Amino acid sequence: LPTVGVIGAGQLARMMQPAAVALGIRLVLLAESADASAAQVIPDTTVGDYTDLATLQAFAARCDVVTFDHEHVPTAHLEVLARSVQVRPGPQALVCAQDKVVMRRRLSSAGLPCPRWRSAESAADVVDFAADAGWPVIAKTPRGGYDGKGVALLADPAEAAAAFQRWGAPLLLEEAIAFTRELAAVVARSPSGQAVAYPVVETVQRDGICAEVVMPAPIADEHALAAQSIALQVAAELDVVGVLAVELFDTADGVVVNELAMRPHNSGHWSIEGAITGQFEQHLRAVCDLPLGAPDPVADTAVMVNVLGGCADIAAQYRSVMAHDPGARIHWYGKEPRPGRKVGHVTVLGADREVCAERARYVASRLAGAADG
Ligand SMILES: Nc1ncnc2c1ncn2[C@@H]1O[C@H](COP(=O)(O)OP(=O)(O)O)[C@@H](O)[C@H]1O
Ligand SMILES: [Mg+2]
Repeated sequence: LPTVGVIGAGQLARMMQPAAVALGIRLVLLAESADASAAQVIPDTTVGDYTDLATLQAFAARCDVVTFDHEHVPTAHLEVLARSVQVRPGPQALVCAQDKVVMRRRLSSAGLPCPRWRSAESAADVVDFAADAGWPVIAKTPRGGYDGKGVALLADPAEAAAAFQRWGAPLLLEEAIAFTRELAAVVARSPSGQAVAYPVVETVQRDGICAEVVMPAPIADEHALAAQSIALQVAAELDVVGVLAVELFDTADGVVVNELAMRPHNSGHWSIEGAITGQFEQHLRAVCDLPLGAPDPVADTAVMVNVLGGCADIAAQYRSVMAHDPGARIHWYGKEPRPGRKVGHVTVLGADREVCAERARYVASRLAGAADG
């Protein structure tokens, strides 16, 4: 079996480890610090800077396959690594998850549904764009954003000027989509082109951060099928290897692509317990060029709620919430609690969406430090 190198030591790398253990695949980790989330659970960890080419090359020399916890490794470095090791997903695919302007260009030219968009250099470009798309305008930093950092709603020219002052140029502009809900279509694709699609989920965002995920999304079948087929088309078009999450907006007129992630994704955490093959195992199968596992759900409904913030005395909370709801599945990432930070998640499977949601919300809120009651 190949040795899989993971770059980045967040919770996604951490949750790859149980799947790797089950399959007998060896993971090695390039971590940003010795106490990072995944570094706590992967014995073969190197601490180093993922923006330094020599560090990346020394790490890659010990791996058969390199994959990722995040998309922040410089694209040029990935091109160099790809000459000596399997980089999965490859740099030409990954750049579409790294750079939102490149993503819009590639998806538009493939004929996939996107909001109206343009790359802008100045507030004058925003005024031009708004003349057509209307105010407010969504502005995004092309690279480096996550959890809504790097996304702003611009109401007028003054706010446009402020966005360029804060972030510099270029910025990606998008028409503000009046969506009914946000969706994610998670698929996996192997180097041979085999692909599988998970059920489409609804993602509920608060302040730009994913708060809850509901499987299946409560939407018309045509919209769910359209979302899955877009995600499979993106995977094939960009030659993605591994898990691909396509974030979409559901609207009265159909679905529109928001952005891409080429790794296991928050919108797929429900699948750890909720599908025959969880997304972390699926990602490892794909990057190791093994046959993919069944993506079918094992319950009618799954609701996943993120734990944002986190309490100091987790042991005390465990005592009461585990006793209160033995069916709730708890995941804790070993991260320092900080306001708004994702430090864990809770999944509840069942037959009724509202019941699952209530149970998962209660446990997650207690783990986030809310008082009993
Ligand atoms: N064109 C848009 N129209 C309306 N809302 C948007 C648009 N683009 C982004 N958003 C909102 O901002 C959130 C974060 O944007 P996204 O591009 O996904 O950034 P991030 O990389 O931080 O996840 C989205 O989940 C959505 O709620
Ligand atoms: Mg997003």
